[in-house]
Order: sequence, then structure tokens, then C-alpha cells
Amino acid sequence: MTDYILALDQGTTSSRAILFDRTGRLCASASQEFPQHFPQPGWVEHDPDDIWNSQLAVARQVLREAHVAAHQVAAIGIANQRETTVIWERATGRPIAPAIVWQDRRTADACEALRAAGKAAMICERTGLELDSYFSATKLAWLLDRVPGARTRAAAGELCFGTVDSWLAYKLCGAHVTDVGNASRTMLFNIHLLRWDADLLALFDIPAALLPEVVPSCGNVGMTHADLFGAPIALAGIAGDQQAATFGQACHHSGMVKNTYGTGCFMLMHAGAQPAVSHNRLLSTVGWRLHTETCYLLEGSVFMGGATVQWLRDGLGIIRQSSDVEPLAASVPDSGGVLLVPAFVGLGAPQWDPYARGTIVGLTRGSTAAHIARAAVEAIAYQSAQLLQAMQKDARVPVAEVRADGGAARNDMLMQFQADLLGVPVLRPKVTETTALGAAYLAGLTVGFWASQEEIAAQWRCERRFDPAMNADRRAALLARWGRAVERAQAWEQ
Ligand code: G3P
Repeated sequence: MTDYILALDQGTTSSRAILFDRTGRLCASASQEFPQHFPQPGWVEHDPDDIWNSQLAVARQVLREAHVAAHQVAAIGIANQRETTVIWERATGRPIAPAIVWQDRRTADACEALRAAGKAAMICERTGLELDSYFSATKLAWLLDRVPGARTRAAAGELCFGTVDSWLAYKLCGAHVTDVGNASRTMLFNIHLLRWDADLLALFDIPAALLPEVVPSCGNVGMTHADLFGAPIALAGIAGDQQAATFGQACHHSGMVKNTYGTGCFMLMHAGAQPAVSHNRLLSTVGWRLHTETCYLLEGSVFMGGATVQWLRDGLGIIRQSSDVEPLAASVPDSGGVLLVPAFVGLGAPQWDPYARGTIVGLTRGSTAAHIARAAVEAIAYQSAQLLQAMQKDARVPVAEVRADGGAARNDMLMQFQADLLGVPVLRPKVTETTALGAAYLAGLTVGFWASQEEIAAQWRCERRFDPAMNADRRAALLARWGRAVERAQAWEQ
């Protein structure tokens, strides 16, 4: 009998590998940061080989340290940073260029040109997405335009495009696939028909031969190459990290909401079996496909969440490690009127402004590093509050609670301030590694490690509940002031 599921959580700044047992308990984990490249302002790149090598290293490490052999692992599930665009040679597996990361803004002008040509409504109707450089389509077109011979080679079937799930699946077991949820983030996928959209491929001049096969999120993809882990393991589940976190938070029914505090912040609501239509600039996206059932989600995406804290560490140098932010921010009673709008890579939902840039307002002679740290933490909550406001307007029923996860969800001060701003309870689960857990659940359902979604949902446990303690007038005043700060950050680079 196999004892574990191995989840691979390939995030924007780190690769993680986690072993879960049948009770959904986290048994062992390993993680590794990998290099980020910023070759020009607004550009963000990864070396696809760094992604793979770090992911493989942590997977091997966690098995080794937990003394678990490949035959004890029932299956592998992948959760991945979404939209990041990789092209590699089909025959050799060699990337032809650096991966263009989801945060990269280099194609903002290409998006503007498409908007000016009147394409935004059609793109949104087919894909559920805002016309924005966040998604893969314009990044892929950029690579095909810039790398000599790429488009011709792509048309000849010599190259593979994929988001990071595809890249890992190819390296793990030679399959060129993507799951339906990841496909829905490319801006090339018709979320109603659940297939690549020929009109969008023509619009972006993308040869179909380049594209991965779209597979369900829960299903057998293949066996890993035997040399990777000592024996083959089934790759049996794939989901974008935010979809995986939604699944891992057991948001299995319409109206349930989770917010993940990772590099960015991503609030997702289960929208049922049909694509939701947002009137408030949220994304309508595919969650997952289990067997023959497709789940759709409504999503608000904030580009800088925990990454703002990394900037305090690496850019500003006012903390030595990310965990230092909590005591520093807590050393002052409030931000002293300082607001930090972390539009370092533009703004996602609901503004969708690639030309916005980071802004600090409200500085006085009394402002200190502690106030800036506090403002950075509060910014994470303010941005998420804007997402929930938009979601409340789109939703047919009021949101009852928000399930929180991700690294910064461990910060009690942030969680309390978040509940205060939302006016809705925030629930932190026992397992905050819900991204990896969701990928594990998808893989485990495929191979019968778990029997049903009901069994999985019954494993979800609340570790702490944060109830709103702020009165409505104060909340409204703070959110209005935040709105003014955001306006100052907008359209800066235009
Ligand atoms: O859409 C981007 C998202 O998938 C990145 O997630 O966990 O790396 O912040 P994360």
C-alpha cells in the first residue's frame, strides 16, 4: 500500500515539494528559492532550467529526508505559477529563450494596440480574461517575433509552448500537456468550448502545432522517467497554483471564497458549472475539470502581495529576512498615515493598469522604517479588500467568509486587519500549504488514494478565525483613503 502523495508547488520565487498522507497531513517539505531576472524595468524572467532543477532538487530532497521511496508514493500532483511562458525544443527539451514571467509588462503596448483595434470585448467574451500583458498570449507572440526562426520552427512542430505545468510534465514524463485551468490563463483558450480558439490563434499568429494537449486537472498524465526518483511515479494531477489552493481549501461549492497570500494575492470564488460573467473587472476562469465536470471560478488577481515584503528586504533593505516584517510592523500602532501602493509591476484587478508604478504617500518627518513596513503589510490587505468589494458586487449571494492561506496568512496582524477591512470573517486553516494540498488532492483522487471530494472536504480544519472588529465608518474612511492613494499610482509610466 502506498502511503503518500507528492505535491510539487512550483511558485514564482520558490519551488517546493511536500509529502501528504491520507489524512491530508503535511508530513515533510522542502523548498528552494531560485533566481529572478529583471533585465529591464518592467521585465521579469526565469531560466526554465532553474525552474526544473530547483523543482527536481526539492522533490528528491523531501523523499530522501523523509526516508520515502518512490514505490511508497501513490502519485505526484503539480501546482504551478500560472501564465509564465516557456518555449522549448521538442526533440532536445532545450528552452529557446528565458521564460517570460506572469509579472512581466513588456507586452503592455501590444495589449494597448489590440485594445485600440477593438479586440478587448471579443477576447474577454471567449477567454473570460481582461486584455492584459499578465496572460501568456502576448508573451508567446513576443517570443515568436523576437527569437530568430521561432515561428517557422513552431509551425513545423519542432517547438513546444507551455506554462510551467507543461514544462514540468514534459521534464517529468515527456508529455506535452496542460490542464484545462492553466490553459484558461493563456488568453488563447475558449472557456465555453474548452478548446484552443482558432480565431485567437490567428489574432496572435500562434501556430497550433506549438500548443500542448489540454487534459483534465484530475487524470493520469504519464509515469515519471525512472531515473528521476529511482522508480516511476504516476503524474496524476495538474492545476494552476490558485486553482489548486481553491481546491485545497475545499471551496467546492458556489460562493465559497479563498484568498492566497503568496508572491501576489489571489482571491477566488467558486462560481459553479458555468463561466461567471464579471461586471467589475474580475476574471472568469476555469478552476478544474474532474472526470467530466468542469468548475469555473471568479478571480481577483493582485500582482504584489508577499513580494512587497521581499522588496522591503532586497530593495529597501529595512529588514533582513521576510519574517522580520511582522515585529517591525507591529512596533508601531498604525502606519502613521503612510500608504504604500505596491504597483511595482502595474496593477491587476480591479484597475488593470500596466502603467501604474509603486508609490508611497503620506510621509512626514515622523515616518520611520516601521511605518513603511506596516504600510507594506497593510497594502496587502487593502488590495485584497478591493477584490472582495468587486466580488461582492458580482456575486448573487453575500460572501460569508474568506479562507486564507499562503505564507503571509501566518501573520496575525495582517489577518486581523484583513478581517477588519473586509467586514467578513477570515478563516485560517490548519494546513496553510493549501496550494500543494490541492495538487495532492487532485492527484490522489485520480489514483483512488482518496475516494471523493466529500472525503477531502471533511479534512479541512480551521486553525483560527479572525472576526471583523472595526466599525463600518472607519472601514469606509480607510478604504476611501486607499482609493486616493491608488489613483496617485495609476498611469505613471504612460
Ligand atoms: O497568476 C500568477 C500566480 O499563479 C502566481 O502565484 O503563488 O507564485 O504568487 P504565486
